[in-house]
Amino acid sequence: MKKLAFLALALPLTATAVDFVDNGTPDTAKVELGKLLFHDKFLSGNKNISCATCHHALADTGDGLSLPIGEGGVGLGVTRDTGSKKHAVHERVPRNAPPVFMLGSTEVTHIFHDGRVEAAEGFPSGFISPAGQDLPNTLENIVAVQAMFPVTSGAEMAGQGSENHIAKAAAEGNLAGPGGVWELLAKRLQANDEYVDLFIGAFSDVSSAGDITYAHAANAIAAFEIDAWRADNSPYDDYMAGNYNAMSSDAIVGKALFEGKAGCSNCHNGEIFSDMDFHAIAMPQIGPGKGDGLGGRDDFGRFRETGDANDMYKFRTPILRNVALTAPYGHTGAYDTLEDVVRHHMAPQGAIREYRDNGDCYTKPVMPSRSDLDAQDCVIMDDWASVEAIASAASDYTPVSLNPTEFDQLIAFLHALTDKGDIDLRSDVPRSVPSGLTLAE
Ligand code: HEC
Ligand code: HEC
Repeated sequence: MKKLAFLALALPLTATAVDFVDNGTPDTAKVELGKLLFHDKFLSGNKNISCATCHHALADTGDGLSLPIGEGGVGLGVTRDTGSKKHAVHERVPRNAPPVFMLGSTEVTHIFHDGRVEAAEGFPSGFISPAGQDLPNTLENIVAVQAMFPVTSGAEMAGQGSENHIAKAAAEGNLAGPGGVWELLAKRLQANDEYVDLFIGAFSDVSSAGDITYAHAANAIAAFEIDAWRADNSPYDDYMAGNYNAMSSDAIVGKALFEGKAGCSNCHNGEIFSDMDFHAIAMPQIGPGKGDGLGGRDDFGRFRETGDANDMYKFRTPILRNVALTAPYGHTGAYDTLEDVVRHHMAPQGAIREYRDNGDCYTKPVMPSRSDLDAQDCVIMDDWASVEAIASAASDYTPVSLNPTEFDQLIAFLHALTDKGDIDLRSDVPRSVPSGLTLAE
């Protein structure tokens, strides 16, 4: 024990307070409004899904599924199914819903698995995003920029084809124009008296219903996410602040492995444990895919954004704050446990081949109401040429060799990144929302 304490003292202590947008404490009125909007199905075309459906406090800001069941599904978390009603889901969402922890850190420069939302000085809005020039220039931070998009996606929130006006505008690609998705949603909010009062209380540039834009809603949602799901109160943070008893001796050795022999901090570094860069590590591909490759079941990752062949199969290094809470893992949620995804990192090329050859999926299949779509959760991409291409894209990755004790110590360190306040997130769910819609489902 003595020896370990000495070792700990000898390690460089680099932690300072993490830098946060709004110093990590956005305006309370905005946070409270954002909490309601985040949980209100009012923001979806068919009023049947909210942000919280896929990022729920009770599923540690995810949905517990490998691949989300979007608009039209029924139920919450791992019991959600693809629905059988009029608006049953048409397609499975092709990527895992990532956690929403620590996004208020000023180190966050890229959002989404492929980084398609990006902070960019010199652009009128300050950001690069799928909306291009249409992005309003009143968005306060990168988290607010992200919140502009789920409502424009047919599979996530807008609904399909001609099911409703918002779905129609989304299908036509009309986001910012007259009659576009964002204007239609603003009108909905303007017509709800309770929301109008809350927007007036939260924003100095809103003095009557007509002033409300969807960008205001996005700013409020971001304030809530940043405030509620800040995650820098972990044993690791206590340790870095000089409390050497805060982490177990296993976690202390695990930290040294993470930063040394295991090479993890080559990519997972900084206060958010991500370099915000893109790497090919041969993560298995399951589900319907993004339409890439021969069978359309592939996902070319960062290449989809840059068109640069060097970016094939690269994905953004995930933030590891609270990672012990946020299973399943990988951009399609292919791994059920933290141990499995870390084991993948030991030898990614072998791991993806083994995953394919196993024939059975690690993920929990969901309810059988629409078996064709439910089953997609479990379909491993069987186009072997693509699997080999993913494997070879990871050829720059240096395999890691750890003995079983070291492996456990590395896992113990990852557990030390769990914020003590985030173990119970029940208070982040409101009791009701201004639209009067139910919070369940
Ligand atoms: C149908 C499920 C679904 C719904 C509803 C949904 N999301 Fe997501 N969310 C996802 C998926 C899937 C991704 C990853 C997409 C990608 O990377 O291509 C994501 C990504 C994100 C991210 C990026 C996290 C990161 O680290 O890059 C944030 C933040 C987020 N969503 C917040 C929201 C907000 C706010 C709403 C409501 C306005 C919302 N989501 C609605 C599924 C959903
Ligand atoms: C070359 C860069 C790189 C190195 C080195 C690296 N990782 Fe990763 N890691 C990534 C990328 C990129 C992903 C996401 C890949 C994807 O989803 O396709 C990832 C995913 C993860 C995940 C899953 C997180 C989630 O939310 O899905 C964990 C856990 C993880 N890494 C831990 C580690 C550990 C522990 C080490 C050291 C053994 C390590 N990583 C080394 C780049 C790296």
